[in-house]
Amino acid sequence: MGIDRVGVLGCGLMGAGIAQVCAQAGHDTIVLEASTELLTRGLDRIGKFLQGSVDRGKMTAHERAATLSRLKGTVTTSDLADRDLVIEAVTEDLAVKQALIAMVDAVCPPKTIFASNTSSLSITQLAAGTRRTGRFIGLHFFNPVPLMGLVEMAPTILTEDAVLKEAAAFVESLNKTLIRTTDRTGFIVNRLLVPYILDAVRALEQGAGSIADIDRAMMLGCGHPMGPLALLDLVGLDTTLRIAEVFFEEFREPRFATPPLLKRMVLAGFHGRKTGRGFYDYGSGNPVPNDFLTRSA
Ligand code: CAA
Repeated sequence: MGIDRVGVLGCGLMGAGIAQVCAQAGHDTIVLEASTELLTRGLDRIGKFLQGSVDRGKMTAHERAATLSRLKGTVTTSDLADRDLVIEAVTEDLAVKQALIAMVDAVCPPKTIFASNTSSLSITQLAAGTRRTGRFIGLHFFNPVPLMGLVEMAPTILTEDAVLKEAAAFVESLNKTLIRTTDRTGFIVNRLLVPYILDAVRALEQGAGSIADIDRAMMLGCGHPMGPLALLDLVGLDTTLRIAEVFFEEFREPRFATPPLLKRMVLAGFHGRKTGRGFYDYGSGNPVPNDFLTRSA
């Protein structure tokens, strides 16, 4: 059968990246958002990234135009009725995901494969209650999606073999490497990454070093492309908080417990790059560490 027509639910940080790589790979792509304002913001993000690719000589202007011609935005759920694959990438909230999945499940034919990009929730739980429990799978992308080479594939015990094959071929078509995992909270990467970045916040809280030094230590000492606090700003403090809460609920292990500083930063609107401030301030071009956090911690 093969996957050509793709639908993406959500055009935020992850949804925009997923929609972009699908269109770039030649798939007819429709991305759904809740409002025209959010949709415009997401599509602008894609346009800018692609322009960055042209400016860096990684893509021609013609390829950028061709990619955008394969990408359509909508706020109307029924526009997804002819999709071969629908990838859910909305906010990390079970009720929000379930409500949207139910709406799209009602308009898509039984053959449409549903995938979720969840970072922490159970694929089985998201699939339950849909009309397609056998045609539901986890496909977990990484931020920034156009630059990161991995997709984790997480079938449930109900996922049909044919769906595994189609999903694997689809990931290959995106020029990403697929690693198979299982429907266990956090899959492989987040199960290891989340305790690490939460520990970095605890290290800051406990005065092990400044924001800049914790990040530089991990970059220079371990060869990481970016430090854990800069990475938290990239992923989003609000998203990380939600992920950590789900992990803690599932495993009840202290390493998944949310550091108080993280909670307070989220409450104060320090969500990372998306709000212009997190552990760093992004207002003036180059990120500047928010030193007052160390003083008040
Ligand atoms: N178009 C095309 N290429 C672009 C581009 C664009 N618009 N913007 C940047 N690039 C390319 C650059 O040209 C460069 O490529 P080359 O190495 O071939 O020259 C490469 O991307 C790196 O770009 P930069 O030099 O500008 O930036 P960088 O070296 O600081 O790398 C980064 C940026 C890729 C984000 C890197 O810092 C990194 O890998 N960070 C870690 C990210 C990470 O861990 N992500 C996972 C988060 S966890 C997650 O997502 C899962 C979850 O569920 C929470």
